[in-house]
Amino acid sequence: MSKKKVAVLGATGAVGQRIVHMLRNHPWFGVASLTAGRSAGKRYGDAVKWLLPDGVPENLKDLVINPSTPDAVDADFVFSALPSNVAQEIEPAFAEAGFPVVSNASAYRMEPDVPLIVPEVNPDHVKLIDTQKANRGWDGFIATDPNCSTINFVLALKPLQDIMTISRVFVTTMQAISGAGYPGLPSLDILGNVVPYIGGEEEKMQTETCKVLGVLEGGLVKDASFKVAASCNRVPVVDGHLEAIYLESSEKINLDDVEAAFRGFKGKAHELGLPTSPEKPVILREEEDRPQTRLDRLAGSVPGMSVSVGRVRRGLDEHSLRFVALGHNTIRGAAGGAITLAELLAAEGYL
Ligand SMILES: NC(=O)c1ccc[n+]([C@@H]2O[C@H](COP(=O)([O-])OP(=O)(O)OC[C@H]3O[C@@H](n4cnc5c(N)ncnc54)[C@H](OP(=O)(O)O)[C@@H]3O)[C@@H](O)[C@H]2O)c1
Repeated sequence: MSKKKVAVLGATGAVGQRIVHMLRNHPWFGVASLTAGRSAGKRYGDAVKWLLPDGVPENLKDLVINPSTPDAVDADFVFSALPSNVAQEIEPAFAEAGFPVVSNASAYRMEPDVPLIVPEVNPDHVKLIDTQKANRGWDGFIATDPNCSTINFVLALKPLQDIMTISRVFVTTMQAISGAGYPGLPSLDILGNVVPYIGGEEEKMQTETCKVLGVLEGGLVKDASFKVAASCNRVPVVDGHLEAIYLESSEKINLDDVEAAFRGFKGKAHELGLPTSPEKPVILREEEDRPQTRLDRLAGSVPGMSVSVGRVRRGLDEHSLRFVALGHNTIRGAAGGAITLAELLAAEGYL
């Protein structure tokens, strides 16, 4: 199979360069075009402030960055790592011009005819693309992955949703600085500090979670019926979002069943042979002080693509549970999430 040609929109940013990095040896996709805003017209090697190991891929250093318009791009499909307000205008233009758009941006995630997918959790939601194309008359389409804290959260909740009726979930996050993009927060605002507010993040976790964990019925998603209350905090770590979760269920919760559900969770993505989906999307840590951000954010057979859970213990009564979950925000929570979604779309014949 020849590789599909990919364009990365917003290729100089924190997520865009992570996508470029993760695609450097990809078996199905090859980067053919890069776009940005102010950096358009420059060599990628000059314009990008590269933050990752291995340096800028040699074959892309001299590639001239295109403007983010459909006529400037030659590709089979595009990844969007654009700021949301920019994606609002640019993503539909690409979809209308016939490009499948696989987006990390929040602009279209909650539109009823736009799929919001974590391939291990709700791969069947790809069928929303058919509804979207019929509604909008586009040759292309927009498919999205959730916010970085939500991706890790739903991967941790899905094994539990499979064995119990979740009624309420409270989550408190400790989120990395890289979640704010590059250059992110000024160092004087975050070093030695915790900021108990991330604009829009709590609302995203509360709404996106119920869409991803909802069921597809009659061509639309019926949201999961439980409620989520999120408290989001920015902490001085570079990468990795840690989440302390308190969950309530209608049934009594057996902690052994919870641990078995985490251990046994596979999801359908690995069955489909998606190259970026890890063997174990959820890894249960049994030590009393794990997972830890610095030690566990790169967990998994595909580094950074597994969510680590641990500290599984009872809540206030037999209907409640406490645990923590950790995921890499720019890998599983953004670039890798989008790449597995594109792999799912390819496997299902949408690319
Ligand atoms: N960081 C995370 O952990 C994370 C996780 C999940 C989702 N996301 C989402 O992913 C998207 C990208 O986030 P990021 O953290 O990578 O942001 P970022 O570091 O600020 O990068 C933004 C990118 O968009 C380009 N851009 C800015 N304005 C533009 C315009 N008017 N036209 C075309 N391109 C423009 C920038 O190019 P220039 O070089 O020209 O400025 C840059 O390449 C956002 O929607 C964000 O919410 C981020």
